[in-house]
Amino acid sequence: MHYFQHRDGELFAEGVPLRAIAERVGTPCYVYSLATLRRHYQVFDEAFEAIPHLVCFSVKANSNLAVLRTFARDGSGFDIVSGGELFRAMKAGADPAKIVFSGVGKSAAEIRNALTAGILMFNVESPGELETINAVAGEIGAKAPVALRVNPDVDPKTHPYISTGLKKSKFGIHIQRSLDDYRRARQLPHVEVVGVDCHIGSQLTTVPPFVDALERIRDLVMRLKAEDFNIRYIDMGGGLGITYNDEKPPAPRQYATALVEGLRGLDVTLILEPGRVIVGNAGLLLTKVLYHKSTDEKHFIVVDGGMNDLIRPALYGSYQAIQPVRRTNASTMIVDVVGPVCESGDFFAKDRELPVVESGDLLAVMSAGAYGFVMASNYNTRPRPPEVLVDGATFHIVREREALEDLVRGERIPPELR
Ligand code: LLP
Repeated sequence: MHYFQHRDGELFAEGVPLRAIAERVGTPCYVYSLATLRRHYQVFDEAFEAIPHLVCFSVKANSNLAVLRTFARDGSGFDIVSGGELFRAMKAGADPAKIVFSGVGKSAAEIRNALTAGILMFNVESPGELETINAVAGEIGAKAPVALRVNPDVDPKTHPYISTGLKKSKFGIHIQRSLDDYRRARQLPHVEVVGVDCHIGSQLTTVPPFVDALERIRDLVMRLKAEDFNIRYIDMGGGLGITYNDEKPPAPRQYATALVEGLRGLDVTLILEPGRVIVGNAGLLLTKVLYHKSTDEKHFIVVDGGMNDLIRPALYGSYQAIQPVRRTNASTMIVDVVGPVCESGDFFAKDRELPVVESGDLLAVMSAGAYGFVMASNYNTRPRPPEVLVDGATFHIVREREALEDLVRGERIPPELR
């Protein structure tokens, strides 16, 4: 069942025509389908029903409060990487006992807030961080539950910017060295070792890298158990990919079956930190055609959304499908879909075959629910777009479009310059 579908020649989100959303909130605008968000979470969670597990939605992928609230209500935990994400998760009603805190550079203040909130565990990325966590926990009389994020050195075969499990990566502690750090952690009075964590990369479209990583994690857990560490959690991170174009990623069930198999005989709770696979295809960016422009070599469609709204094509050269909201029988042409930002990298599509569209027509940039709004910026002093959550035949504005005044809030002209 797809919740973004053409009906009578018009693209709908659930029961709402996208045209109606554009009329009410303007463009560009992010649109999410509540039914899709919930179904993706549920399918993912149920895939692991055979074993004790906890799904911690990765807040970085989409941190809108209404989206987080949806998952919290359905029982999800959260993977956070900053004090800001902790703040959002708590505001959305998250259960702190289901929050894991990842990230290479946690500050003492962030650690303190997370300890005070009572999170499930810290995924620690360096010996220095371990010392800081121990010190902060000591100050407030707490015992910090930790896992070490180990780097299993497997190649996820994804884009280099989003592959994180290789030896040369800044992430994690090399698995062979981690045993020493585990022993050190055990000496620390305000730290309790509870797990092993890894995250090998994002947008993985095959299962074997996950299985390879788990095999190495498994060896480590066996060694730790032999040394009487009480390892209760294995956190396999996120990373399961989605279809943007013609990728054929494994279904959550396939991925789950492989992991469940790899965990056999280990008495642990599996933690997962999915982001993209839950929200990616539950959202789109609605944008309007402003102008046509041709050179001898290219035909450009200039739209009102830009790289500041959705940066993935500019940053990773990634493919995002584009659908005209109004389906026509018009012939197609090869175009570049570009935004208004003053950068050559400001494009949504290059050399893409699209039906001929006119000024004022709406386009939907698909698969924009993950790493979309969260990576938006105000470059070129462009207000960030609104976010809309569709629920059946109704929709809610879950974040307003920024106003120009929002963009200069906090800026001051010094008296000397007045
Ligand atoms: N856990 C950790 C520790 C992570 O670093 C990430 C993503 C996730 C979980 C969630 O991964 P997912 O399930 O979404 O693949 N901006 C890039 C993706 C960056 C991913 C960063 N880490 C993009 O737009 O493709």
